[in-house]
Amino acid sequence: MKFIEDYNIDNKKVILRLDLNVTIKNNKILDNTKIVKSLKTINYCLEHNDHILIMSHLGKIKTEEDRGKNSLKIVCDELRKLLHKDIYFVPRTRGKELEDSFSKHVITMMENTRFEDLDGKKESGCDEELSKYWASLGDVFVNDAFGTTHRKHASNYGISKYSKVSLYGYLIQEEINGLKPIISDVKRPFTVIMGGAKVDDKVALIKSLLNDADYLLVGGGIANTFLKASGKEIGKSLYSKEYVDEIKDLLNKYSSKIIMPIDVVVTEENSIIDEPNNISIDDMKSNNIIYDIGPNTINNYKDIIDNSNTIFLNGTVGKYEEPNYANGTKELLNVLKHAKCIKIAGGGDALASINSLHQESSFNYLSTGGGATLEYIATKKLACFEDEK
Ligand code: 3PG
Repeated sequence: MKFIEDYNIDNKKVILRLDLNVTIKNNKILDNTKIVKSLKTINYCLEHNDHILIMSHLGKIKTEEDRGKNSLKIVCDELRKLLHKDIYFVPRTRGKELEDSFSKHVITMMENTRFEDLDGKKESGCDEELSKYWASLGDVFVNDAFGTTHRKHASNYGISKYSKVSLYGYLIQEEINGLKPIISDVKRPFTVIMGGAKVDDKVALIKSLLNDADYLLVGGGIANTFLKASGKEIGKSLYSKEYVDEIKDLLNKYSSKIIMPIDVVVTEENSIIDEPNNISIDDMKSNNIIYDIGPNTINNYKDIIDNSNTIFLNGTVGKYEEPNYANGTKELLNVLKHAKCIKIAGGGDALASINSLHQESSFNYLSTGGGATLEYIATKKLACFEDEK
């Protein structure tokens, strides 16, 4: 795969895969970094030709309800504002309207690629027919979705397999250039702080990371599955039941590396007033829900952070967008600000919290990739480019 500047894209129909998977709450984009970071490649394409088809995923689509909540239209509106250009939005992922718009308009954006997952996981299963169809729409495929380079999906790996010409854009170049020097010579101790809602599709990555990293500090919904696997009461907190046994094995194998919360901020299920309460993990009741880590956990994590030489932060350790449960994320960022080591953060939620709390300057490198960056750190490879020379 060549860099976009190393191939003449003049007057070609360009299919542009971006990672516009931003966090949306109450119909508002919480952080538009991924969209802003995609502008350079979009503008380069616009300088060279008149027909661009933008595609991206947004969230995970498993049910009709997910489809209702994850239309790319809101992202298209934001991109229109940032580009100061008209974009024709096609509320579909294939068909005549899409094909006609791509031929007629300068910029077309199609609906969330993962809507195809409702019909037999065609996008995330890298369906051959879908990959060929999308590849057939244009002359050149440009992949600039760094955040999904750890996935072999139809809209990245699949299209590049069947496209006459496949290129990568400025964001992928910037991310690889930024991460490579840090990753190729990781200064130890190396600590990964992982938050976020669910363990689910991160288990494989966690396994590779535990091989490589010296410590894994967990927070957020991810920590709940670890706590459950260690035999703790987690009340009504969200956790991933189907991964408890695997996490149990990891806890046995890497007991000295995995550090879990010792105190948490909880609320009571069905309580009329949201009253956050900081309690020891051993005092959890069956109707408690964990929404944040507590101050003793932060102190514990601080000792490890202060003794680390490289830190990677992914996700947030609590429901930081709600003031009652933002303290853990705020305090953790404060500890990181004063830590004298190499600090990298990655992924939509980590970036959104860092930007909203104005902590950008605390980090040596901020990556748009969460899972992608973790995979790159753990394996030094990105699945999407596996067949590349
Ligand atoms: C991310 O936010 O890390 C990327 O957009 C990838 O999203 P995914 O984990 O849903 O594939």
